[in-house]
Amino acid sequence: MIWYPYQQMKTMRPPIKIKSAHGVHLFTEDGHDLIDSISSWWSVIHGYNHPEINKAITDQLADFAHVMLGGLTHDAVQQLSDKLAAWLPGDLDYCFFSDSGSVAVEVALKMALQFNTNRGSARRTILALEHAYHGDTFKAMEVGDDEDYHFAFSDGGAKRDVIHIPTELPALEDAFAKHGDELSCFIVEPLLQGAGGMRMYDISFLQRARQLCDEHDVLLIFDEVATGFGRTGHRFVADLVLPDILILGKALTGGYIGHAVTVANHKVYNGFLSDDPSHALMHGPTFMGNALACRAALKSIELFERDHYLEKIARIEQTVRRELDGFGDPRIREIRIMGGCVCIEVFNESDLEGYKQFAYDRGVFSRPFLKYLYAMVPYIITEAELLKVVRTMKAWFAEHPMKGD
Ligand SMILES: Cc1ncc(COP(=O)(O)O)c(C=O)c1O
Repeated sequence: MIWYPYQQMKTMRPPIKIKSAHGVHLFTEDGHDLIDSISSWWSVIHGYNHPEINKAITDQLADFAHVMLGGLTHDAVQQLSDKLAAWLPGDLDYCFFSDSGSVAVEVALKMALQFNTNRGSARRTILALEHAYHGDTFKAMEVGDDEDYHFAFSDGGAKRDVIHIPTELPALEDAFAKHGDELSCFIVEPLLQGAGGMRMYDISFLQRARQLCDEHDVLLIFDEVATGFGRTGHRFVADLVLPDILILGKALTGGYIGHAVTVANHKVYNGFLSDDPSHALMHGPTFMGNALACRAALKSIELFERDHYLEKIARIEQTVRRELDGFGDPRIREIRIMGGCVCIEVFNESDLEGYKQFAYDRGVFSRPFLKYLYAMVPYIITEAELLKVVRTMKAWFAEHPMKGD
């Protein structure tokens, strides 16, 4: 039996069974056609069943699906690391592949901590953001700040060697003034904090963070597992402010195959080059650099560039802004829009109860969580499909009288 994610299995409603998927559409076993408004956890940026990504994978399959990177290498992984080194900003050139975003976060944190150990520094403290989400593995949970996901493992809030601050400049200044010389790294979801509630903040915070990291010799880590590949309207937030370590996942393979990469700059990489074997990075996921995943990623990046995805994302943002302009309801606390992400935050979680079924009945797959009703659509969505998604969100408030009315 399948043990489903984030669910109380005793009370869980049966999941929707998908028979096929094409473009932005999921086709269910019982004949429903649903627009996927959340791109399979924000990853399927080109939509489903893309003929060119399919072909890239099947072509690779004719040679082999996978060989390990322990003592072996292959064209697909070499081409992908070359492409990323050329395509990513600055000197983010060294690609460590892994099989999921959480593992890529673990690798980034190991890099930052061992970078310091290798140079004989005792810095162990990690600076992170309030409401951060970096995945569900243990160190990722520790740098995260999301009790809704990780409460079963929390010990009442105290976290060893991790300091959390809000995305506010005075808190940032204060953290560096007090702890700057103990910090190994500062890890952030840049501009858009996803699972912590689609919280958006200003680039000036990251610009100042970069300055302070430089002044205090602290590594800056951008977890762009969710924001990478255009979700904020920028290709990467790293194009605006350059981190020392960049983490990509989810859309890396166009949502086809679980894969992620932790990309280090020269400074970090050089911190591991040594005649001392103990200075090596001791990590090696079995499926790192999987050839099918690399081929999917290469094709996904090609499509992103060739088909002008940033323009598509800008059009999505414009349409959503236009459609939600002036829209409000007493139950709504705030509407936030950035690039290919829109979030309607309500005051009470109960105000979204039943939305999933409401959207399903109107041909939209949605999965609001807590107080957040959001959409992160595949970028190939048409205007008409996008309007259907946004108008379904609006209709929920229009067609449901407030409790007590
Ligand atoms: C910012 C961020 N980091 C890391 C992860 C974890 O990625 P994965 O689910 O592939 O382990 C997520 C997943 O939602 C994420 O949003």
